[in-house]
Parts: sequence; C-alpha cells; structure tokens
Amino acid sequence: MGGFFKSSIGRKVAMALSAFFLMFFLLQHFSINILSVFNPDLFNEVSHFMGTNPLIQFVLQPVLIFGVVFHFVMGFVLEIKNKKARKVAYVKNNGAANSTWMSRNMIYSGVAILAFIVLHFIDFWFPEINTKFIKGDWSGTIEGVEGFRYYEELTHKFVSPIRVGAYVLAFVFLALHLLHGFTSAFQSMGATAGRKKTLQNIGKAYSIIIPLGFIFIALYHHFNH
Ligand code: HEM
Repeated sequence: MGGFFKSSIGRKVAMALSAFFLMFFLLQHFSINILSVFNPDLFNEVSHFMGTNPLIQFVLQPVLIFGVVFHFVMGFVLEIKNKKARKVAYVKNNGAANSTWMSRNMIYSGVAILAFIVLHFIDFWFPEINTKFIKGDWSGTIEGVEGFRYYEELTHKFVSPIRVGAYVLAFVFLALHLLHGFTSAFQSMGATAGRKKTLQNIGKAYSIIIPLGFIFIALYHHFNH
C-alpha cells in the first residue's frame, strides 16, 4: 500500500481524497457559520455542540487537521515534482496553450489559502484550543456575555477592515483554487468519464457559491457590528 502512494498516480489519488475531505469540511463549515447571520442563538447552540462533542473534538478534529496539513504538504511535493517534469515537456508542446490560469497557478492560490489558514487559526482555532484544552474551560461562556460566547467572539473578529480585507482576498483565491481543483480531483480518481460536463458545472457552482458565501458572512458582520 505504502508503495502505491509513492507513485505519481498514488500521490494524485491521495491529493484528490484529501481534497474531497476538505471540500466536505468547507460545506459543513459554511453551513454552521452562515447561521451566525440568520440565527445567532442557533449558531451558539451548534457551535457549543461541535465545540464540546467528544467524537468531534477528539476524533474528527485531529483527522481534519491531519487532512489540512497533508493536503498542503502533498501539494508542495506534487508541485516540485511537476515543475521538474514540466521543464522537459514545456519546450516540446507549449504547455501554457492547453491549460487554464487556475490550473497553472494552483500552488499560488494554495499558498494564499495556507496564509489565510494561519491567520484564521490565530483568530479562531488557537484561542479555542487554549480555552478548552489548556485552561480546561468547556463551559462555552465568558464573563460579560450572556449565554454562549461564540457569536460575540466571531462578530468581534470582523470589526477590523484589514482582517476582513485579508479574509475576502483569501476567499477569492479559494474560489480560483476550487475552480480547477474540484473537477481535477474527480479526474485524478478517474471519475469524470461520461459526466465531465455535469461535474464541471457542479464544480463551478460550488467554487463560486461557497467562497462568495464566506465573503458575505465576513462583510455582513463587518457592516453590522
Ligand atoms: C467567514 C468565514 C469563516 C468563519 C466565520 C469561520 C469561523 C471559524 C470558527 C469560529 C472556528 C473555530 C471553531 C472551533 O474550533 O470551535 C473555525 C475553525 C476553522 N476554520 Fe473557519 N471560518 C471561516 C472560513 C474558513 C475557511 C474558508 C476555511 C478553509 C479554507 C476555514 C477553515 C477552518 C479550519 C480548518 C478550522 C479548525 C478546525 C475547526 O475547529 O473546525 N474556515 N473557523
């Protein structure tokens, strides 16, 4: 099995599997965070459930973080290997002619998303880990805030126009990354035969609606705080 992931096919399949996992996570993450716009009380309830459920905290969260790190590391490995391979092919068949800007620049949109994740972890995840795992406070409450703290903490993060600007820019790169990544993941799994057009349309819709939705959440809280 280990040998399979050492092959270029194996690496592409591993990349695609981690991509599917992260695209599912984004859907779930968007569904929870959009609640902060339409029903802050429900957002607080759902955030507390997710934030204190043992299966989510001790099983799914480590798997997610592994998936995020794996996708980025494998992304760099594949880019370095492709760059070496491309050097030769590029001269022969003018690679730029038959590829999109998004496909040629996945590493740059990927790095932009990685930079966002670092900022985002500083904003949201590290404080969560500190409160719960370091300080041992799983109450979900904070002095001066009635009820759960999650909605109050989230809206506070979107006061700074610089942070909101950085988030919005990152979500544009997320869209560019997904516009190629969505169909390419299915292609790596050999799952596009006879349904390429449909997958491309679903991919386009997902790649535009999810990042636009995140942009809406960030701007909504910025202009409504
Ligand atoms: C406006 C948009 C977003 C908001 C309001 C938001 C909010 C949050 C919050 C509140 C947490 C902490 C959850 C917890 O650990 O209890 C979190 C964690 C996280 N976010 Fe976001 N997020 C947004 C966009 C994104 C995007 C676009 C990505 C990926 C590209 C992302 C990836 C993550 C990851 C990997 C975690 C850590 C795992 C987790 O705890 O769920 N987030 N986010």
